[in-house]
Amino acid sequence: MSYGVTEQDERFARDIVQPKLSSIVPRRLLPNGSYAPVPGIFDIAWKGLMDLPAYDFVKSMRELDNSIIKENEQWALRLSPMFERSELTLDQIRSYEANTFKFADVFPMVIVRNVFQNVRNREVRDLILRHSGEEMGHSELHADFLEYGLGLNRQQVWDSVSMEGIEEREGFFSDRSSTMSELRKECPELAYATIPFSERIVPMSMRRIGRALREQYGFKDNVLGFFDLHTYIDIYHERFGVYIMAKYGTTARARELFQKEIESQRRGLIEGTKAAYSALKLK
Ligand SMILES: [Fe+2]
Repeated sequence: MSYGVTEQDERFARDIVQPKLSSIVPRRLLPNGSYAPVPGIFDIAWKGLMDLPAYDFVKSMRELDNSIIKENEQWALRLSPMFERSELTLDQIRSYEANTFKFADVFPMVIVRNVFQNVRNREVRDLILRHSGEEMGHSELHADFLEYGLGLNRQQVWDSVSMEGIEEREGFFSDRSSTMSELRKECPELAYATIPFSERIVPMSMRRIGRALREQYGFKDNVLGFFDLHTYIDIYHERFGVYIMAKYGTTARARELFQKEIESQRRGLIEGTKAAYSALKLK
């Protein structure tokens, strides 16, 4: 006699039990039992933001962020213009992607550290955990591109991310600025929200790079999962950020700190892309 579950049990759970549970819990339940902490937040064209008290704050932060991106269009969307112009050699792509892998690989941990300042706010706590869980595994898709698309050795790709290197890298496990430390004390919800908010441009840059990798470089679907997934997943992550901003961005001081931090993060990403490009060109 087997004490394990059968395929029939699994089918019953998915076809009968799960829909039943979903109708009890007013949240989307996934097959793995995780749920969306905010009802409807994964619905297409979700509008659940507009009635929240600080929606005006979201609008002004989107405008500000858009203006910084526009000013630096060549550098704000990863190296997408360079991919589109077929300017990068395969060697340069390999080196650039291997380096960005290190950031993707530690990202779930960067997110989840925010949970400790938000343990009393169940909704925000659960959004952070959900966000972190969703980022897990994305670096494996990136490693697929590096291995099957660019010919790197997977183990070496993994080994390139050493814990010592991560700890040294400013901003990953310590706050990269005094503004961030202050914001974490003033409003820990908004301190976390800087992360998903700044992901708002990822779908556009990944769509452009994915298209260029297909059209200019001839890569096929089977190695482009990392880019394709990011054409939409960060639509939802931006929502995690803006939902929190619209709900908790209600005091002048917290807004001011958030704005300062977002400006510095966006400019930091732009400078990082410029530095990466110069390093590639010097090779
Ligand atoms: Fe994301």
